[in-house]
Amino acid sequence: MSTWQFMRLGGTGHSRLAALAAGFVVAVASVAVSTPVAAQVANTKHNLGTSPGGGVNQFSGTAEICVFCHTPHGADTSAAVPLWNRALPTPSAFTTYDSLGTSSLDGKTAPVGSVSIACLSCHDGVTSMSAVLNAPGSGTTGDAAWAAGGWTGANQSGGALAAGLITNLGTDLRNDHPIGIQYGGGGLTGSAPAAATTDPDFKATVSAVIGATRVWWVDTTAPGSVVGTRQKTDMLLYSRPAGSYTGQTELEPFVECASCHDPHTTNSTFLRVSNAGSAVCLACHNK
Ligand code: HEC
Ligand code: HEC
Ligand code: HEC
Ligand code: HEC
Repeated sequence: MSTWQFMRLGGTGHSRLAALAAGFVVAVASVAVSTPVAAQVANTKHNLGTSPGGGVNQFSGTAEICVFCHTPHGADTSAAVPLWNRALPTPSAFTTYDSLGTSSLDGKTAPVGSVSIACLSCHDGVTSMSAVLNAPGSGTTGDAAWAAGGWTGANQSGGALAAGLITNLGTDLRNDHPIGIQYGGGGLTGSAPAAATTDPDFKATVSAVIGATRVWWVDTTAPGSVVGTRQKTDMLLYSRPAGSYTGQTELEPFVECASCHDPHTTNSTFLRVSNAGSAVCLACHNK
């Protein structure tokens, strides 16, 4: 919750900040808390319907926003992604960064999964972005028809991200920052949570048990950020549990697409924090 408050504060200028300084914290916060997610994502390239604010690609079939990614019912459960309304690609379809063979990479690589495979269900450029599991309205059988046609915009072809765009990552991820990569590199000793914090090449993590499971993140110094509290402006790490794939023996934090990106934010290129001064990179790397 506090993240939305701070993001709103950051964007509302001197009067709000002055009010905050004057002690009207509760009043400002209550305005911010009632702000729906749509106030953010509606004004981004991730608004693919006909409602105002989106990017170049638009689908005529709906004025909804969330439906391209989330559904309240009938979601895909093959990966740990929130109420996901899209069929997920096959993990083995991807070539991962580690297969490039740089001599310095020492973290272990998990199969493409977690939140990354949710992003890649569009950013692999394969399937129409309106090919959702549960289209708006009653019933199930109309969904295939909903997916056909209706797309305009120069950066798509038949609703899939067009070839040749950088936003179309494709299935060869060797030229992309590693994802599904263990945080903290190799050479670690000890068990979680300490194991995530001992590689001197990386900033220390913070961890807490949230819900039933331990989660990790790397604190940033973004405006309004509270040290030791997990917020959307921190670099979030995603836990891969023991037994989730062969060789995974304990719960550990991994870097995924959404470690650096928040798919709902209006920040440039959906980054969790501005990358001025390479702040995104330096949040994790000690360089
Ligand atoms: C382009 C795809 C996309 C769209 C559109 C989208 N989301 Fe999300 N959403 C995601 C992904 C991916 C995650 C998981 C990211 C993460 O772990 O931070 C997520 C996570 C969430 C979460 C749980 C984590 C959090 O940030 O609170 C909520 C709640 C949520 N979305 C609500 C919404 C609502 C409501 C809308 C529409 C107004 C929406 N989303 C639109 C992709 C999307
Ligand atoms: C959320 C934390 C995080 C952020 C943010 C981050 N990285 Fe990384 N990066 C990692 C991890 C973990 C690895 C894997 C390192 C390993 O296992 O040796 C990695 C790997 C790399 C590698 C490959 C290293 C090799 O040995 O092949 C490069 C280069 C790199 N990052 C650069 C960047 C740059 C540039 C940015 C900013 C755009 C950035 N990173 C942001 C965590 C992060
Ligand atoms: C429903 C399809 C869909 C999903 C799922 C999706 N995206 Fe996107 N994303 C798009 C489209 C469409 C664009 C705009 C592409 C263009 O115009 O070149 C885009 C653009 C972006 C951009 C570039 C923004 C810019 O300003 O140029 C980033 C970064 C991005 N997405 C990250 C993500 C991440 C990270 C996830 C998962 C957390 C994700 N996306 C999930 C459809 C999607
Ligand atoms: C370690 C941090 C990090 C990770 C992990 C990461 N990205 Fe990015 N991504 C960035 C940064 C920083 C930029 C902005 C680069 C720029 O300004 O050209 C970016 C840019 C993008 C863009 C826009 C590219 C362009 O130039 O138009 C897309 C799309 C994108 N990311 C999608 C993804 C997806 C999908 C994943 C997971 C498969 C992912 N990113 C993982 C840091 C990351």
